[in-house]
Amino acid sequence: MCGVVGYIGDKQAAPILLEALKKLEYRGYDSAGVAVIDGGEIGVKKMRGRLQLLCDHTHDGLDVPGSIGIGHTRWATHGEPSDRNSHPHLSNNGRFAVVHNGIIENFRQIKEMLSGHGYVFYSETDSEVISNLIEYYDQGDLVKTLLAAVHHLEGSYALGVLSLDQPDRMAAMRKDSPLVVGRGEGENYIVSDIPAILSLTRDVYLMEDGEVALLTRDDIRFYNGYGEPVDKEIFHVTWDVSAAEKGGYEHFMMKEMMEQPEALKETIRPRLRDGRIDLSELKLDRDWLNDLRMVHIVACGSAYHAGRLGKNLLEKYLGIPVEVDIASEFRYNAPILHPDHLLIVISQSGETADTIAAMREARRRGVKTLAIVNVVGSTIAREADHVLYTWAGPEIAVATTKAYTAQIAALILLSAYMAQEKGLLADEERARLIAALEALPEMARQLLDDKERVQYLASQYFNHNDIYFIGRGIDYSLSLEGSLKLKEISYIHSEAQAAGELKHGTISLVQPGTLVIALSTQKKLREKMAGNIQEVRARGASVLAIALEDDGNIEAVCDHCLYVPALPDAVQPIITILPLQLFAYYVAALRGNDVDKPRNLAKSVTVE
Ligand code: F6R
Repeated sequence: MCGVVGYIGDKQAAPILLEALKKLEYRGYDSAGVAVIDGGEIGVKKMRGRLQLLCDHTHDGLDVPGSIGIGHTRWATHGEPSDRNSHPHLSNNGRFAVVHNGIIENFRQIKEMLSGHGYVFYSETDSEVISNLIEYYDQGDLVKTLLAAVHHLEGSYALGVLSLDQPDRMAAMRKDSPLVVGRGEGENYIVSDIPAILSLTRDVYLMEDGEVALLTRDDIRFYNGYGEPVDKEIFHVTWDVSAAEKGGYEHFMMKEMMEQPEALKETIRPRLRDGRIDLSELKLDRDWLNDLRMVHIVACGSAYHAGRLGKNLLEKYLGIPVEVDIASEFRYNAPILHPDHLLIVISQSGETADTIAAMREARRRGVKTLAIVNVVGSTIAREADHVLYTWAGPEIAVATTKAYTAQIAALILLSAYMAQEKGLLADEERARLIAALEALPEMARQLLDDKERVQYLASQYFNHNDIYFIGRGIDYSLSLEGSLKLKEISYIHSEAQAAGELKHGTISLVQPGTLVIALSTQKKLREKMAGNIQEVRARGASVLAIALEDDGNIEAVCDHCLYVPALPDAVQPIITILPLQLFAYYVAALRGNDVDKPRNLAKSVTVE
């Protein structure tokens, strides 16, 4: 949802801004721009299209002089992708430039007010009101001016601001959109997401909502919403820089799929100690746990699909009701929340606006929140009462893979741990589960290494127009994820159906040649699934089955089969989803799509 970057130092700013924007492009990629102060002017270069066009147009920024600048890569919300709607936006007098990530909900009112004062707007964006509001409230001091302007903004924003009257400083501010400040040697930075500046510095400040940062070459100061100075601690980043680079793979998505064994290991191993599951890091209160009556799980997209599996796990281990909701629906469904409930939010980025809103609503109503989150220091990680990190490392490809499987691993650990602490987990069950969790990374590695058959099957089906996924129970939740993965990167129409529900309507879409991907990984449901497969085959569908290695009957009812090893129910989904991720990847690659940056999407959805 737009990437924001800023540089102030003694080097040429534009090449550094463009380099950082390349690493932020996953946040939005329909247009890009930079604004740099030089020779008493703010020079703006911005254009519709991928960042590479801007790089080519400016010789990788070398044509843009100046050593203080801001940059932006856009995911359009207000106004189509166009040169005019691209950021940065200048104020009418040309003395302020702004980059913005977020949405200004009351931009129409502000536009009307400013138009009444003679301001002219050149774009259809909500963001352009910010630069003009700053000009309107200009009182010579950048921090005071910015605070006066944002006082009138409703919505979310991460802002980078340049002022021609103070060409030796840059201001930044955030509310409900991510922004961090990086500290370098004689140079400083602002950025939406840490990996984009990791090659420049490992020392960052995590900004809080409502804080303003004022950067010069040698100094960074922070102020609260009243303009009073605030002390902040440096956060030292210890991740490996290569984690945010492709490392020889053609796409981040393939690299990230192949990193799943490591991501699972990092998420699981430190939490298994002396034959027990150890999540003492959560600091859950024993009495509170014993009183727990209900769990709500709230998330979006793939994280929601992981949450559906979490419901099965928590209900199985704890024997209490679990509701799972899409975050954008949750708040408006008038959820019934009580203090003896727990709300679990799941998010890779930790910045998904709907998930944040759901979490805040639960906290406001006195419900404890627990976040399963991947990005350290993200808004969700900072605001939740308890945090369980998935240690998947930076995920760059828009389609999530390793964060999703790590989320399932975290849910297994969490539900088994809570049961263990409540005395509900039998020793044998625990031993079996721990053995399976320990074996999981290696098993995932073997399955991912053996990917040629999936690639072959993708080559057989990549030009289909419609692909349906069917499954029951946990296989239905995995069908939803398999279908989402496929459609988001291949652009093939796809739906997932509960296999038993198909005959209540959707089966009318099945015709000779339609591909149905049928998941059958639960022994107790084999016969039922075989029946559902026969139903679609009788209508001419081709069937690709995902089944357990010991299923001797499946080949008789399908055209092709991909086998996965049988594991205890709780961990099976992590292995079952792997061939579906690979299938989506190969289909998208064969169709010549930009696998890592599918059209219309962005990695981090910071708008509601
Ligand atoms: C799909 C995908 C999205 C995200 C969703 C939530 O491949 O990546 O559906 O799962 O946007 O994002 P996070 O997990 O960052 O809250």
